[in-house]
Amino acid sequence: MSASEYRTGLGWDAHRTAPGRPLILGGVAIPAPFGLEGHSDADVLAHAITDAILGAAALGDIGMHFPDTDPRWKDAGSLGFLRHASSLARERGFDLVNVDSTVILERPKLRDYRTAIREKLAETLGLALDRVSVKFKTAEKVGPVGEGRSAEAQAIVTLRRVPDAG
Ligand code: C5P
Ligand code: MG
Repeated sequence: MSASEYRTGLGWDAHRTAPGRPLILGGVAIPAPFGLEGHSDADVLAHAITDAILGAAALGDIGMHFPDTDPRWKDAGSLGFLRHASSLARERGFDLVNVDSTVILERPKLRDYRTAIREKLAETLGLALDRVSVKFKTAEKVGPVGEGRSAEAQAIVTLRRVPDAG
């Protein structure tokens, strides 16, 4: 029997902060006096994880599958992007092994929302909770993120393809 094939994918995203917009991270609405600007719900974390999944399966990137010129995706919930990317990977024979991620946002503090975000991502991806990691960092008041003008997210995903038996 041949060994499983493992693939790693990297994702990154950034969105500007804006007053009067929702702050949605991993599908969870975070109470804040501002949110993130974007064509969709601007869920910077979901977008980074979506790109990591697509990257691991060499399926292009989020803009290729969900172009922001397509009215179908206007104000789309980004968990839909995530679900679709994981389905595409599974159709090609890949199982998700784990997701690790970091949200870089100066404020508000996000640690109280870690469990809710992990649960939402795990449910969306069909993964056990202990395979989904979400970390938070400030940018130490430096640069656009540190000055509160934007948020960033990074993600890394491992996929495994089990060879056919026989
Ligand atoms: O960026 P810094 O190293 O100061 O972050 C320290 C801790 O604060 C992080 O490990 C994280 O648990 C938490 N944090 C948070 N929400 C943020 C940024 C950081 O809960 N927006
Ligand atoms: Mg985005």
